[in-house]
Formats: sequence, structure tokens, C-alpha cells
Amino acid sequence: MEVEELAAEAGRVLPVEVADFVAGGADDEVALAGNLAAFRRRTLRPRVLAGAADPDPAAEVLGCRLAAPVLVAPMGMQRLVRAEGEHATSGAAAGSGLGFVLATGSSVPLEDIGGRARWFQLYLLTDRGVSADLVARAVDAGYQAIVLTVDAPVVGHRPRDRRSRGGTGWRNANFEPYPAIDAAHHGYVSAIRADIGWPDVSWLVSAACGLPVVVKGILRPQDAVRAVEHGAAGVVVSNHGGRQLGRAVAPLDVLESIVDAVGGRAAVLLDGGVRRAADVLTAVALGADAVLVGRLVMWALAVGGQERVASVLDGLVADTRRTMTLLGARTLADLPGLVG
Ligand SMILES: Cc1cc2nc3c(=O)[nH]c(=O)nc-3n(C[C@H](O)[C@H](O)[C@H](O)COP(=O)(O)O)c2cc1C
Repeated sequence: MEVEELAAEAGRVLPVEVADFVAGGADDEVALAGNLAAFRRRTLRPRVLAGAADPDPAAEVLGCRLAAPVLVAPMGMQRLVRAEGEHATSGAAAGSGLGFVLATGSSVPLEDIGGRARWFQLYLLTDRGVSADLVARAVDAGYQAIVLTVDAPVVGHRPRDRRSRGGTGWRNANFEPYPAIDAAHHGYVSAIRADIGWPDVSWLVSAACGLPVVVKGILRPQDAVRAVEHGAAGVVVSNHGGRQLGRAVAPLDVLESIVDAVGGRAAVLLDGGVRRAADVLTAVALGADAVLVGRLVMWALAVGGQERVASVLDGLVADTRRTMTLLGARTLADLPGLVG
């Protein structure tokens, strides 16, 4: 099943408010559309007769070995989409040898998630004690990196998402130990700190007990440099899948400038609009160490639970191999220069 059919099928099986929560973007959805368009504007120039019949897409990102340079993006409230929620998506990612990023607003407690390449996404909360406790719990539970999302000091205006704000019965499982925070769906959003600043990045680096800190939501080279200067081990070039600033630039269009500015001092990841293997390889060819996939995984979860997520992720890895053969790339190191 092609991506478009998967998205359409998810739209059919999900209640309309959940389908819109997943698929929707901010404002007039220019950024959402722009993320996809940016990939379609890039073409590839294959190297022929290059001996790439059996390519290896393996990657190592911040010490995590991955079968391909792909992680599942942090997405809250996955039990809205299917009862197994984050159990299914994390299990599938682990089975496919890919990474998994658990959201602060997970509907499954962070301690219940397994797998080798697990990162924890943090929204900094007004209560620093709770933020510190979440980080400590992630460290204790064996997560390998903390991803600080910085592009959501307030929630974007998402016209399609209005109906899902009213409460759904699902709870943000990570907040159950903190009675002061409203753990209801979307309730915790009011506990997210709006005035987050660079000193908070330094604070997190010291609170993370040596785990690498990755700053997610970077779109400017100078911000990437500042993140590195404040101790970040990586950045995610991202506009939150077009869900925050409705007119945000497409991450792919600013990737090269950020890779240049970072100059190898930190890992550079990208998300937004990654739907197929050519997207993964285009981002890597332009300097990304790996990509995060968001909605693709949610649609697979909606349509067929863990089994379907596994088949979509395995398919993405298999397509990455096939595309590398067609490109004449034996490893990811052969990709730079192949974007036409
Ligand atoms: C349903 C949904 C929930 C999301 N929740 C979060 C979140 O809690 N924290 C976060 O940093 N990003 C969140 N994101 C953004 C994703 O991590 C990622 O940046 C984006 O989905 C990538 O774009 P794509 O969906 O086109 O792959 C969410 C995205 C979706 C679709």
C-alpha cells in the first residue's frame, strides 16, 4: 500500500477528530504542505555501475546503532489512535532495528517502553522539579538521549484540531505521579513553559546525567550553533511537522546551511514530510545523520497496530536498500553529491 493509500485508510478508520489531530497542521497549513513539496523539488543523480547491489544503510547516531538512519518521531497520545499506543510503535521500531523517541505526553508510562535505541522527548514545564524528575526517570529507565523540543512555547493554532481539545478520556501517563499537573489530554499543555531560553538548555545538559541532549525545532544556522555552544550533542531541524508556526520554512530547505554551521560538532537530524526512502536518502545526502518519521507511523498504527507499523518500517528499510542500489551508494557515506 502506498503512503497516500495508508493515509486515506487511516482517515477512514479513525474518528474524524483523531484523524484531524494526526494529519492537521497550523494556520493555513502552508508549512505542512511545504514540508512535502520541499522533498518533491529535490531530484537524485545516480552513480552507475558502482557495485551497490548489496548496500548497507546502517547508521550510528549518538551511540545508537540503527539498521537505517530513521527514528520514530515523538508523538503524544498514541492510544488515541489505537489502544496499544506507544507499546506498538516502540515495539515495531525495535523490531525493525530503528530508533524510537517517546513524547513527554505519552499515553504509556516511559518506564513501560522497551527497545535498544530509545530517546525521551522533553517539554520543559513551569515546575522545574517535575521536569527534573521526568529526566531522572528517563535516565533510570535506560533512555539513551533527551530530546528538548523548543518550537512549542505555546501550541500552534490548528484549525483541524479544535474538536480533539475537548477531552477524550485518555491520560498523559507520564504525569500520573504529579497531582499538581492536569494529566488529561491537552491539559498538561498549560504546564509547558512559554519563556524557555538558552540557559535552560545548559540546565538540561547538566541534569541529563551525561546523556546527550538533542534540541528539536531548529530552523536557523545561528540557533544550531548556539545549541552546540550550550552543550547540545545534536539538533533536529524541524518545524514540528507544520503544526506550530503555520508559515515556517521547510526543514529540508535549511538543512545544508545548518549542517555547514554545525560543522560536525553535533549530530544533525531532520523531520517533517519524510514519507519514503528517497526522502530519507535525500536528507542524508544533504548532510543529515538521520531522520524522524511522524505521521507515517501514526497512520500505520491506526490501520493495523504494531504489525502494520512493523511492515511499514521494514518496508522503509527495504526501500532504502533498493534506492541505494539504484543510486549507486554502498553505504550512507556514498550519498553526498547525489542530489541533483
Ligand atoms: C499526532 C502528532 C503528535 C505530535 N506530538 C509531538 C510531541 O508531543 N512532541 C514533539 O516534540 N513533537 C510532536 N510532534 C511532531 C513530531 O515529533 C515531528 O516533528 C513531526 O510529526 C514530523 O513531521 P511528519 O509528521 O511530517 O513526519 C507530533 C506530531 C504529530 C503528527
